[in-house]
Amino acid sequence: MTATLEKFIAGLPKAELHLHIEGTFEPELMFEIAQRNKRQIRFNSVEEVKQAYRFNNLQEFLDIYYEGANVLIEERDFYDLTRAYLQRVHAQNVQHVEIFFDPQTHTDRGISFDTVIKGIYRALEEGEKQFGISFKLIMCFLRHLPEEAAFKTLEEALPFKDWIYGVGLDSSELGHPPSKFERVFAKAREAGFTLMAHAGEEGPSAYIWEALTQLNVARIDHGNRCLDDERLVQELAARQMALTLCPLSNRALKVVQTLDNYPIQKMMDKGLLITINSDDPAYFGGYINENYLGIAQPLHLSKETLAELAKNSFRASFLPEEEKEKRIARVEAYLANWD
Ligand code: HPA
Ligand code: ZN
Repeated sequence: MTATLEKFIAGLPKAELHLHIEGTFEPELMFEIAQRNKRQIRFNSVEEVKQAYRFNNLQEFLDIYYEGANVLIEERDFYDLTRAYLQRVHAQNVQHVEIFFDPQTHTDRGISFDTVIKGIYRALEEGEKQFGISFKLIMCFLRHLPEEAAFKTLEEALPFKDWIYGVGLDSSELGHPPSKFERVFAKAREAGFTLMAHAGEEGPSAYIWEALTQLNVARIDHGNRCLDDERLVQELAARQMALTLCPLSNRALKVVQTLDNYPIQKMMDKGLLITINSDDPAYFGGYINENYLGIAQPLHLSKETLAELAKNSFRASFLPEEEKEKRIARVEAYLANWD
């Protein structure tokens, strides 16, 4: 049963919509890049690094995630990071990716915006040619930093407007509500960026309301806490506002204690547009297929439900409508042809 389920998930055509490229930094690659850049890391082995990946909350994870990113210096490093991710998810039949990058994590260390984006973008273009993985690149502001720093980052992004599809908001949520970035998001919207924000991961449902009404987002990242507010659930369902859930991330950061009662079915039954994603797979124990499997097993999800989640990943994407339809038809054909 499990083997069949694994096989079904593995072959399912799908999109990934919530993925931080810095969160795909596997320890093996981290050691390799640290060595070639002559940077020290405080661990002696891959095992030691993995031992350190035990978190009690979002901040404990972020501290180690930013530390890992410190060894990324050259354009080639950002290319290698992105390339490795695309190779992995190509093997998982991911056919479209919308990935986040955090420019401030690098520009604050003296790495230029150009270096970061050129490395990432070159890998994405090659991945599209070689693997057929279409993509959108999304720049996130670090919400623990001041509004002014986000304005500066937005300025730096403008020369790369054609490469950056959207703008998001990540990092330490509690104490940094979406409203802190209302003006920056308004400016980003004027510049033509599509908007989204992490909200309701650790923060309250009120942060999701703010993201909707003050930032005018087109998608909510995480959004788990919407279940605390029935009126919000109704609003999200009425707007068909997609939520990008990340089950293994939620378990690793203790947003939920277990996946045994992960409320996916409840959310779908309420009419919410739900997608499954990996967030920071190198840190949370799995890429997208492991996230699907991580909920499919304990919740006994049917193949039809899993296919619905894969269809949702295309519905909730920023692909053009006719392209969404084509991709959704591929999922339907896959399900129909399954033994
Ligand atoms: N939440 C907030 N910020 C992040 C995350 C996350 O899950 N991953 C990387 N930056
Ligand atoms: Zn995230």
